[in-house]
Amino acid sequence: MKRICVLAALTLLLAGFGFPSSRTSALLRYDRQIDALLGRMTLEEKVNMLHAKHMFVSAGVERLGIADLKYADGPFGVREEMEPDSWTPLGWDNDTATFFPTGSALAATWSPELAYAYGAALAREARLRGKDMILAPAINIQRIPTGGRTFEYLSEDPFLSARLAVAYTRGAQENGVAVCLKHFALNNQENNRGTVDVIVGDRALREIYLAPFRAAVEEADAWGVMAAYNKVRGSWCAENDLLLNQILRDEWGFAGLVVSDWGGTHSTVASIQSGLNVEMPGKQFFGKALLDAVARGEVSQELVDRRVREVLRVRLAVKPVPGHEANRVVTSQPAQQRIAYDVAARSIVLLKNDGVLPLRLKNRPLIAVVGANATQAMAAGGLGAGVKTLYEVTPLEGLRNRVGTGARIVHARGYEPVEYAGFGGFRKKAPAELEKEARAKELRAEALALEAIEAASGADIVLFVGGNNRAVETEGSDRRDIFLPSGQDRLIARIAEVNPNIVTVLTSGGPNDLGVVNRVSKALVLSWFNGSEGGNALADVLLGTISPSGRLPFTLPVKLEDSPAYALGTYPLGGPGTDVFASLVARAEAAPTAQEPSRPARDPNRAHYSEESLVGYRWFDTRKMPVMYPFGHGLTYASFEYAGLATDRRSYEAGDIIRVTLELKNRGKMTADEVVQLYVHRVDPSVEWPEKELKAFARTTLRAGGSGKVRMEVPVSSLRYWNENTRSWDDDPCMIELRVGPSAGDIRLKKSVVLR
Ligand code: BGC
Repeated sequence: MKRICVLAALTLLLAGFGFPSSRTSALLRYDRQIDALLGRMTLEEKVNMLHAKHMFVSAGVERLGIADLKYADGPFGVREEMEPDSWTPLGWDNDTATFFPTGSALAATWSPELAYAYGAALAREARLRGKDMILAPAINIQRIPTGGRTFEYLSEDPFLSARLAVAYTRGAQENGVAVCLKHFALNNQENNRGTVDVIVGDRALREIYLAPFRAAVEEADAWGVMAAYNKVRGSWCAENDLLLNQILRDEWGFAGLVVSDWGGTHSTVASIQSGLNVEMPGKQFFGKALLDAVARGEVSQELVDRRVREVLRVRLAVKPVPGHEANRVVTSQPAQQRIAYDVAARSIVLLKNDGVLPLRLKNRPLIAVVGANATQAMAAGGLGAGVKTLYEVTPLEGLRNRVGTGARIVHARGYEPVEYAGFGGFRKKAPAELEKEARAKELRAEALALEAIEAASGADIVLFVGGNNRAVETEGSDRRDIFLPSGQDRLIARIAEVNPNIVTVLTSGGPNDLGVVNRVSKALVLSWFNGSEGGNALADVLLGTISPSGRLPFTLPVKLEDSPAYALGTYPLGGPGTDVFASLVARAEAAPTAQEPSRPARDPNRAHYSEESLVGYRWFDTRKMPVMYPFGHGLTYASFEYAGLATDRRSYEAGDIIRVTLELKNRGKMTADEVVQLYVHRVDPSVEWPEKELKAFARTTLRAGGSGKVRMEVPVSSLRYWNENTRSWDDDPCMIELRVGPSAGDIRLKKSVVLR
């Protein structure tokens, strides 16, 4: 009991639930020192700090002992070293890093402690490589299930995203590296991300899309922010006065530096005036053009000083790693690998279990592992940042590692995985060539399927390991649909005819259509792009060494068309044009070809977020629509009983904290973690609200038969709404119902209290 309270208290402390640490950034303490430095710098030296020196470096001033600022991708591992001015890898042997589970996996842990450890681990590896700022965490809201970077982002829910972003930021910055929150803001789709203009109402902007960024700035004092590629309400994010000046700096008190996404700067005067500090990775706008603008009187010296000051604050806060100390050892180190394991082990979501899991190894069963994802590496692939990892344990290797001689394992690939073919489609080919290729592909697919069906038919258990891969989920383009690629649905349906004893594991970073696999599988597991230790963690869950404890950070819809932006047609379809990043790295091979299906005539460059705040489960709940698996869902090998929901009072005023307790009992036969979730429903509000919203959660460990008290806190201030008339946060005094359970779709306890 005591242990549980301590754990919950720690969760609250680390997550800083709703208590901004301080509105004054620690960065301000360098201002006196900066005054002196600015006085000694020439205009050229100042401007030199405001653009790229190299692809991932912006300049310091050697003469004054100001070191260059070194940036590194990315959210799930420190990117390999590249030539200073190109994307060509240097091919070092010691820049192999730990591949951490990607964003959606981290979010599935619902654990601020693990997010802190993750940020800390990434920072330690970044320091080993001499880096000052990691281009992470990536915290855009997962608005569409098809989003190309859903795997990098955390959640469809702003509260879960915010709690994790705060902890990640603290973990990284307390270990000597600045974060760079990305992509600010509303970069919720990859198709046309370099041209799309997002039109969003103020409430959704504030309550949903900006919330994780705000929390990481106000509560964790994030030192860096990356301006996204897209436009918001008509102006580019890198020159967006509303986002950068009015909200980020003036309202939230951000004191650090804003860097443009790579190639995302579009102007000189508007950008520097609106709050951009560093143009990356070139100097088209903030090099000579900026000096000229100063000479012409279009940009004042004071403004240049202000932008340099913001860069210097970060430079002084992060101690440079001396050149001779960097890169002395291999980047990936055991302590960090352990954290990659811990996160992976707690991220795996058991969606369904008809009693076949954990696997029983009595009598050395024959396990047919079917599926190319069983051996698929996920650290790299597709466009954008990947990790050159020291190692990656695939699902098949993990199983072999853990099973030893306890079972006989055979593997059949079953299907050809999708391969990344370059951005924007494929080389134009003649119809005859295409037809020949398609025929050969069909033959290969049938041969692979037959081999898998044969392996499955003689096995005791079929472990189908499918899902997406990094070619399917990639930066620069969204998925066209969420079906399992490579004909996996057809294959598993055929396998089910010869052997119904199927356990399916999906290694995907984003949602899939589960219609077929859910029907034919006795158990269904979501195991993400789960990092260097992913395969070991998966095997530990499958074998019951640990109980699964991951929870969905997004809703799994019955079908894509049910999800809000698709149902309302507010996701602007249209084949990807020339991607801003892809053209930067000159990988755009061709414009969309004749193979592109024709798209409805909708302006692909305007995204009206007219579903407003009804993102993810807020939509399905409010519209009372069925889902395949709800937000927050995840089973364990135990079963938990909820009782005794209580609050410290019956009514609360602005500024109060609602203190909630409940009794939790583990009625199962093994130690397991439960993630208790608290949603708030407004009973008689004066403004419109979604049906319910996540406002607190607590991951707690209980041994078999154990019970304990779970404590959660909901500051009344976290229940405010953005008043579009007064343009400020407002209370909505009304009766609210606290709804507590193991997922958004399974509310076990309710209690009403009044907000006065
Ligand atoms: C991505 C960023 C990344 C940057 C540098 C851009 O294309 O959007 O997330 O940090 O490239 O690699």
